[in-house]
Amino acid sequence: MEVIDGNRIASEIVAELKAEVSGIKGRKPCIALVRVGDDPASVSYVKKKGQIAAEIGIESRVLLPPVTIPQGELEGLVESLNDDDGVDGILVQSPLPDGLDERAVFGRIAPEKDVDGFSPINLGKLVQEDSTGFAACTPAGIMELLARSAVKLEGRHVVVLGRSLIVGKPAGLLAVQKRAGANATVTLCHSKTENLASITRQADVLIAAIGRAEFVTADMVKPGAVVIDVGINRVADPSRKAGYRLVGDVHFASVSPLVSKITPVPGGVGPMTVAMLMKNTVKAFRLRAAGTKGAR
Ligand code: GUN
Repeated sequence: MEVIDGNRIASEIVAELKAEVSGIKGRKPCIALVRVGDDPASVSYVKKKGQIAAEIGIESRVLLPPVTIPQGELEGLVESLNDDDGVDGILVQSPLPDGLDERAVFGRIAPEKDVDGFSPINLGKLVQEDSTGFAACTPAGIMELLARSAVKLEGRHVVVLGRSLIVGKPAGLLAVQKRAGANATVTLCHSKTENLASITRQADVLIAAIGRAEFVTADMVKPGAVVIDVGINRVADPSRKAGYRLVGDVHFASVSPLVSKITPVPGGVGPMTVAMLMKNTVKAFRLRAAGTKGAR
């Protein structure tokens, strides 16, 4: 059994991007990070995104509108970033506080700056397999993690557990694409799926993104499978200084002895998401610099 080291693979990508960005003359790529409210997980993710951007040489602008911001003003803020020539990528951290319409906000982001890939145009490009679009960072990170860990997908059964816009649906669409590194047979299942374990047990590659702590147990996994754990769940742990610890959607202790490869939590998919966001930001910069409308 091999534990896939997401930190190491993400560092490789960060180093590649750093070398690429250092070769850019003049204005460097810039990402705007918008965080509404103080959700503790969002605070730490946005901080991390700013740190990694700085490490690469990507400029970041952090915008922190108050939790009380009206929908129209938040959309206006996105529009002002769309119009700002110095901004290449726009990220609005999800989830937004209750009362704000996330889909409407994502829909306002100019497609050529939508480095998260959540806007309708980029989701459409993903379905069309048009590589000028932007794919969501966590699924793109999973594909990169698998490729760089020499896991072949072609013709194999990838079971995605979870159907979110951020992970499950785009992960399934990427794995099924007609191209080298993909070409998988995909099953997308979720919390309402009947006989779930009988399906997950068929997976050559199981992507767990259901958002429930340690949901995937040993009886749900085929021996020798590759398991990608996308979950980041906080569970109370009074023995820790923070009062909690992070666990994935997979019960690591019982599942890991069975598998050929597995990602840990933390240190698996998480760092890949940030690395792919930076990769998308450099791509957005290049497309804009070339005068292409990119994803339009
Ligand atoms: N929340 C959890 N993952 C993500 C992500 O990839 N992008 C954004 N914007 N919000 C998230």
